[in-house]
Amino acid sequence: MKIIAYGIRDDEMPYLKQWSKDKGIEVKAVAELLDESTVDQAKGYDGAVVYQQKPYTGAVLDKLASFGIKSLSLRNVGVDNVDADAIKRNDIKVTNVPAYSPSAIAELAVTQLMRLLRRTNTFDRKIAQGDLRWAPTIAKELDQMTVGVIATGRIGRKVIDICRGFGAKIIGYDVYHNPELEKDGIYVDTLDELYAKADVITVHSPATKENEHMLNDAAFGKMKDGVFIINAARGILIDTDALIRALDSGKVAGAALDVYEDEVGIFNTDFGSFDAIPDERLKNLLKRDNVLVTPHVAFYTETAVKNMVQFALNSNVNLIEKGSDDSQVKF
Ligand code: COI
Repeated sequence: MKIIAYGIRDDEMPYLKQWSKDKGIEVKAVAELLDESTVDQAKGYDGAVVYQQKPYTGAVLDKLASFGIKSLSLRNVGVDNVDADAIKRNDIKVTNVPAYSPSAIAELAVTQLMRLLRRTNTFDRKIAQGDLRWAPTIAKELDQMTVGVIATGRIGRKVIDICRGFGAKIIGYDVYHNPELEKDGIYVDTLDELYAKADVITVHSPATKENEHMLNDAAFGKMKDGVFIINAARGILIDTDALIRALDSGKVAGAALDVYEDEVGIFNTDFGSFDAIPDERLKNLLKRDNVLVTPHVAFYTETAVKNMVQFALNSNVNLIEKGSDDSQVKF
């Protein structure tokens, strides 16, 4: 059996090599992403392991299938960039890594929330100017707040556990109710109810068509004045223009964004200077003391990266050998 792995970064390489040695399975690591210019390299392999934010296009998937590659394993959770029609017409089996480390995402989300509440960004900037005064940079305590969690899957649940440790009151919204959380009585019936009651709103929903711009002008309008917004899930969940308006009006007191709707091609790139970042809207956000932007790094921990590589390779082997895997994605 031979597997080709696309888009392999230096930090993934040791985990890939270790897996290959332990399993005795040949894995060809390719630094380039899977696209029309690289797909031919997959000829002769039994399966492909991939991660990228750029689209897996119909043309590329048709070609993979024409080489007999019907086993495709993503090293991440989100499948929003996969051409579903091409998957179906070619009968390609796809797996993702649904839980490489919920803690990785949840810990960053809450870290950034705490940074917003304690206004560390403002203190960092004041201190850099030699200003060591307290006022007017007074903080809020999470212990006194209600955190509204939209989507209570694995990551949402971790966020809930951590926020409970800080003493926060939790409310949650999800179409699927987790039985344990249900027992705790955290669920509200509608998003509107969550918007009306939460001091902090953190979104953990997938990037589906229905969820696109879930947090828009109308949604912000229903929230408490001075709400804090956290998004470590997907950029398109938030209408960025609406968020900027809500920040300008003070409706939103602060936002922590690990994702941004136009991040592809921008995040994980070194532009050399702040001015050279080619996105004025992003720069508008980055300049604000009460907005914390990180370049989609919530997943970027040693544990998560190792799991992404090794779980995806295991799934790929299952697809190749058995034609199925527990992490198979339905399209
Ligand atoms: C995902 O797993 O879908 C992520 O968002 C992390 C990715 C950037 C590696």
